Order: sequence, then structure tokens, then C-alpha cells
Amino acid sequence: MKKTLFALAAVATLGSAQAQDAGQINIICSVQAEWCNLIQTVYARTTGVKVNMSLKGSGEALAQLIAEKANPKTDIWFGGTGDPHLQAAEQDLTLEYKSPSLPQLHAWAQQQAAQSKYKTVGIYSGPLGFGYNTELLAKKKLKAPQTWNDLLNPAFKGEIQVANPASSGTAYTMVATLVQLMGEDKAFDYMKKLHANISQYTRSGTGPIKAAARGETTISISFVHDGPGEKLQGFPIETITPSDGTGAEIGSMSLIKGARNLEAAKKFYEWALTGPAQEIGAAAKQFQLPSNKTAKVDPNVPDFKKIKFINYDYAKYGASAERRRLIAKWEKEVNSLPR
Ligand code: G6P
Repeated sequence: MKKTLFALAAVATLGSAQAQDAGQINIICSVQAEWCNLIQTVYARTTGVKVNMSLKGSGEALAQLIAEKANPKTDIWFGGTGDPHLQAAEQDLTLEYKSPSLPQLHAWAQQQAAQSKYKTVGIYSGPLGFGYNTELLAKKKLKAPQTWNDLLNPAFKGEIQVANPASSGTAYTMVATLVQLMGEDKAFDYMKKLHANISQYTRSGTGPIKAAARGETTISISFVHDGPGEKLQGFPIETITPSDGTGAEIGSMSLIKGARNLEAAKKFYEWALTGPAQEIGAAAKQFQLPSNKTAKVDPNVPDFKKIKFINYDYAKYGASAERRRLIAKWEKEVNSLPR
């Protein structure tokens, strides 16, 4: 016990001594606040580096990086869905960097790096599905949706929430998943019908599952790894992945081209790829699958082997022109419809 206290005190002293000269890094963080905050605290305490965090959804983060391209204020973009990270790579907003830790990562994370010519890397993955409030469903005597088509049930009118694909990577993953699953024409017909049942398109990807957990809506379209954290807080929420097939995100991390604190940012990047750093996600009750093969996988992480996945084409749907085209089409043909 004494030893532990001594060790902690030593780290704390080291932390404050280093804080004076260890510098700082500016991070856009696109995972949930609990995870961003824990990273900020742990990294600052163990290295002395001051971490300035700005929390932004994936689409909003990309918009900010585009806006500050001539004079970047960000050093690192941590987390958020992989498609906008690929788009940032294509637009030359992010820096090519080949981490020596790449071989420690799962194939999907390495593929994300290779596809971007090493301008981004996969840090976690998670499947798209539905969240539902068990109490509200029971009260309405309705069954949990099993397939995408089940969401069109008129009994769910005004009972479903999903985010807006322009601001949220979660929602863009849904649009791209449906297009790949059904073909573009059928996917847009489907989203137009679904629109009748949607009460709100939220800004952030996690807004809908938080609303479902709190009984403000019955169903959400969400990453299913966002469910257990809500359930652990005592909310009546369960998740399911559609039996007809779904997509998954490759949550990513990128170094920003022109970063003012590049050396410090590279150190953070290397740290964030390690097994222990990736386990901080589960400690913050965030249950994505870590990309480092040595990271312990929490039992709350969805079991990928039980899920029917489409063969998501990350290169195609992460391309700037395709993402822009699909979002504009969604605005024009779906979001503008009356409900
Ligand atoms: C949550 C999820 C992440 C995901 C992120 C995307 O934080 O836990 O896995 O990458 O949402 O956020 P967005 O607001 O862009 O949909």
C-alpha cells in the first residue's frame, strides 16, 4: 500500500515537474466525452503534456479541419468514424506517418492506414444497429425491430431517432450501409419511408441512443457499442444488429498536416496505439473493439462473430466526392420531405 502511494506520488511530482516544459497538444476528440476526458487526464498526468481537447462529431471535425487548413490549430484528430478521416487524407489535411506499431494492429486497422497512404489509422471498430427502450416497447406491446424493414412499421411513427449524416459519422455510416445493402435507389426509397417514422435528426451520433435510454424516444439507429454504457447507468436500453446485414465503422486517428506541436503529437499518436492506452476506452465505459491486438477486450464489446456484416467498401464511401454526393442527395430527397 505504502509502496503504491509512494509510486503515485512520484508520478504526480514527475507530472508537475514535466508540465513546465513538456509542452502541449491540441486534439479534436470525436468519441464520447467520458473517453476524451479520461485520456486528457491520464496522458497529462503520466507525461506532463498539457492536452487541449475540443469535442466534435466526425462530420463537424472534418468541417473544422477544412476551415483551418491554411493555419491549422489542431495537432491530432482522435476518434470518430473512418470515412471522414479518409476524406481528410484525400484532401491533404492530414500527415503521412507510418507507425512502427502498425503490425500490432488488427488487419482492418492496418487496411485503413494503407488505404489512406498512411494518413490515418484505425483505432477501434464497432457495428451499426438499433437501440431500443425495453419499457416503452413493452408498454406499447411492440416487438424489438430485427431488420431494417421492421423500422418502417407505422406503429413506430415519431418513435425513431437517428443523427444527421452531415454532422455525424454514425448517420453517414447508416446511409452508406443502406446503399451497399439495398442498392442506391432502393436505399433512398427506404430512407424516404423511414423519414415518416423519424422524430428528430440529431447533430451528434450518440444523441439518439441517449434519448432512447432516457425514454424520450423508443428506438435509435446507433452504434451498438454505445448501448452498454447507458445500460450500466441503469437505463432500460438494449441493442440489436439487423439480421439482414449491417456495416461497421473503423474509428480512426490522424495527425494534422502543419501541426504546430508535431513531435508531441507523434508521441501521443504512438501512445494511443498501445494496448494499455486503448483499454482506457472500456474504463470510460466505451465499448468499441480496440485495434491493438494485445488490448484486453471487455465482455461488453459486441461479439463480431455473431453479426451479419456487409462487405463495407471503406475506400469508396470515404471518398470526398461520394460522401458529399450522398449527403447532398439525402438533404434534398429525404430531409426536405414533410413528415
Ligand atoms: C460515438 C461512438 C464512436 C463514434 C462516434 C461518432 O462516440 O461511440 O464509436 O465514432 O460516436 O460520432 P458522430 O457524432 O460523428 O456520429
